[in-house]
Amino acid sequence: MSLTDAPSGHAALMDGVYRNQRHIYDLTRKYYLLGRDRLIAELDVPAGGSVLEIGCGTGRNMLRAMNQFPNGRYYGLDISEEMLATARASLERHGPSSPVKLAAADATAFDAHALFGVEKFDRVYISYALSMIPDWRLALARAADCIAEGGSLHVVDFGQQERLPGWFRAVLQSWLAKFHVEPRAELFSTMNDEAVRIAGRAHCRPLYRGYTWYAVLTRAAHTP
Ligand SMILES: C[S@@+](CC[C@H](N)C(=O)[O-])C[C@H]1O[C@@H](n2cnc3c(N)ncnc32)[C@H](O)[C@@H]1O
Repeated sequence: MSLTDAPSGHAALMDGVYRNQRHIYDLTRKYYLLGRDRLIAELDVPAGGSVLEIGCGTGRNMLRAMNQFPNGRYYGLDISEEMLATARASLERHGPSSPVKLAAADATAFDAHALFGVEKFDRVYISYALSMIPDWRLALARAADCIAEGGSLHVVDFGQQERLPGWFRAVLQSWLAKFHVEPRAELFSTMNDEAVRIAGRAHCRPLYRGYTWYAVLTRAAHTP
């Protein structure tokens, strides 16, 4: 399904959140969207491998991944046309000569083949987007379906701040709620469920005393 069929309310909400924020997004988020660079470093993209970012925002992560793994083929989707406008401009300014394909689409209902001409990806990642997607479990299932054999899905997002003081957790979560961000307490258990569903393996790790949660789901390689 393309964005035109997507629940337009959520697309409009995200456009509203980011219409102005996108201009200062990269500058400000580096202080609190922790763990993104670890995720990128661990992508370990194979030469010629395909990489999809779901909820790619300004394209900041894609640029960094492309610098680290220049032989990959990169694809990004986001529900916000506002964010994609920044991503396009940024990739044009700083990106490598090889084209990056970007598309407006809903993470819960997209057809990767129709958008990009690619059905499965060697690496799929979602960085700080599941906490903004109402039906995040469906988005996670869609992402897992896109993993090629022997490939992996990497997720980083706000955790439950389980080893941080209670007051910090309360302040952070109420501040995040103002921006329609809800840390997913069931992220790890849902990653484990997805591992069972696709006969893969999930590895889940809290980082920074639970400020961030990071999880990797690997699909088994084909054995003849
Ligand atoms: C906090 S930003 C993260 C951007 C980027 N991944 C990063 O790490 O900087 C969340 C992004 O998710 C996108 N998003 C929210 N709901 C979405 C959905 N249902 N489908 C696709 N993208 C979505 C937003 O438009 C926004 O660009």
